This record gives sequence, structure tokens and C-alpha cells, in this order.
Amino acid sequence: MTADTPSATLIDGKAFAARLTTRVGAAAARLEASTGVRPGLAVVIVGEDAASQIYVRNKGETTLRAGMRSDTHALPKDSSQIDLLALIARLNADAGIHGILVQLPLPDHIDAALVLGAIDPDKDVDGFHVINAGRLAVGLPGMVPCTPLGCVMLLKHELGSLSGLNAVVVGRSNIVGKPMAQLLLAESCTVTIAHSRTRDLPALCRTADILVAAVGRAEMITGDWIKPGATVIDVGINRVPSRDPVKAAEGRTRIVGDVAFEDAARVAGRITPVPGGVGPMTIACLLANTYTAACRVAGVQPDSLDA
Ligand code: GUN
Repeated sequence: MTADTPSATLIDGKAFAARLTTRVGAAAARLEASTGVRPGLAVVIVGEDAASQIYVRNKGETTLRAGMRSDTHALPKDSSQIDLLALIARLNADAGIHGILVQLPLPDHIDAALVLGAIDPDKDVDGFHVINAGRLAVGLPGMVPCTPLGCVMLLKHELGSLSGLNAVVVGRSNIVGKPMAQLLLAESCTVTIAHSRTRDLPALCRTADILVAAVGRAEMITGDWIKPGATVIDVGINRVPSRDPVKAAEGRTRIVGDVAFEDAARVAGRITPVPGGVGPMTIACLLANTYTAACRVAGVQPDSLDA
């Protein structure tokens, strides 16, 4: 192998997510057979953001494929905050709905923190409610945000114990960066959260045994930022012009991560691709959280979803 040959093992999140979705579906069927409770997920979308519409459609289709109830509530972009809060109140009270997800981003005239705070914490399958953020921070059981949960599942599957490893999380969002750091800390990693004000980010990233990229900047992290043999988890989903100049001129695009994949794969030990890495895990974990929430309502212990 030459220095230019990609050497990293690909972490196949798509295949892992497909297996997890099958296991959740089987567990949900057992729950329904034994208790009559069929896990139900309600997804709320406001407006016409194209990417959000695709995510929401995928969530609905995967939920149905797992044999669970899926309701999608698509509200017009000029819907009032009061209407949205009224819908959430109805879903909170609906015994057939165990998980509620409000797709982000919301239009500017809606206070997202207020809306997320209105969701019953026990139905908050996104894990975005402050109660669930607090539970995660102090190590109490609760709903864990799906993307970081999926990343940690992949990491444990690949590496076994994460104890003592140096983890650098690039990005400090409430959705990914902060809960990711909490989960890695709970796995006894030594965790650093890096962000736009971090000094000498490349040098810090080179200390990482586990590098999680969640900044939303296309291909920002290059091979020279990576410690040889490190495990790289790329959470980014960025749309950039097609490689083919003719297609690019027609406005065609492709999806890339926050990591310059080919360059990074020459240095890393293991790496998630984009697409096909972390993305599919998010939906599988959403179904797992909905199943867990339904078990709580049914008063039964959830079956293990481990491989
Ligand atoms: N928008 C982008 N990612 C997410 C997510 O994980 N949950 C929700 N609700 N909205 C999102």
C-alpha cells in the first residue's frame, strides 16, 4: 500500500442501521402482540424546506416499514406558533402517539425553544427537551438525541470499549455536539469540545483517537488533521456543486460531509462515509426511542436492541 492508498476501514452505517431497524420492528411487533400497544410516532413539519421534506418523508416511510404507526403533520409555513403549540398539546394527550418530533429548522417567526419545551419529555424522541438534556448530563435514563446515539452505537460496535480514549467533538450544537460529548464522557472517554473559537484546531484534532465532525462546513477536516489510525465519525451533510463542471453549471449538486473523505481515509483507521454513515443511524435510533417510549407506556421493560 502506498501513502496515497485509502487505508481506512469503512464504517457501514447504512447496513448497521438496516439491522437495527429490523430489530426494532421485531421488538415492536412483540410489544404489540403481548400488550396491544403499537408504537406510534408523530412528525411535525412547518413550511416547505426541501431538505426537511426529504428527511420527514424518510422518517415516515421507515417507521411504517418497521410496522409502527406513523403520522405526519405538515403545516403551512405561515402557521402561527399558537397553532403549532395546540397541535403539540393534542399529540401529548394522544394515547396512540408515543413519540413526537418537530422537524428543525422552524420558520423564524416561531420560537423553537418554546415549541420543543412544550413536548411531553417522555414523548420527546429527539431528546431535545431541557429535561432530557439534563437527564443526560447527570446520567439519568431519558430520551437521548438520535444522531449522537447512533454515533456512539457505531463507535462501540467498531471499537468495543471506548474507555480512556481521547475524543474530540468539533461542533457545540445542542442537537449533536453537546449530547455527543456527554455520551462519550459516559463511555469514559477524555472529551474535548472544539468550536469556531478553538485555537489551532488541526493540532487539537490530531490528539483525537475518536474525531467527531459536526460543524456543517463541507470537507473542512483534511487528512493532515487526523491522527494515523484514528476513528473518524462524520456527521456533516453538506450540498456542494457536482464534480462534473457541466452538471455543476446545470445546478446539479452532491452531498459531502464535514470531512474531506478521500484525503482523511488515507490516514484514519476507520471512517464513516457521507452518505451512508451516520445519517441512516439517526432514523434507526428515532425508531428505537419511539419503541422505548411505547414500552414505558405499556409498563414493560424494552427488549435489548443490541446486535
Ligand atoms: N433537523 C436536522 N436534524 C434534525 C433532527 O435530528 N431532529 C429534528 N427534529 N430536526 C432535525
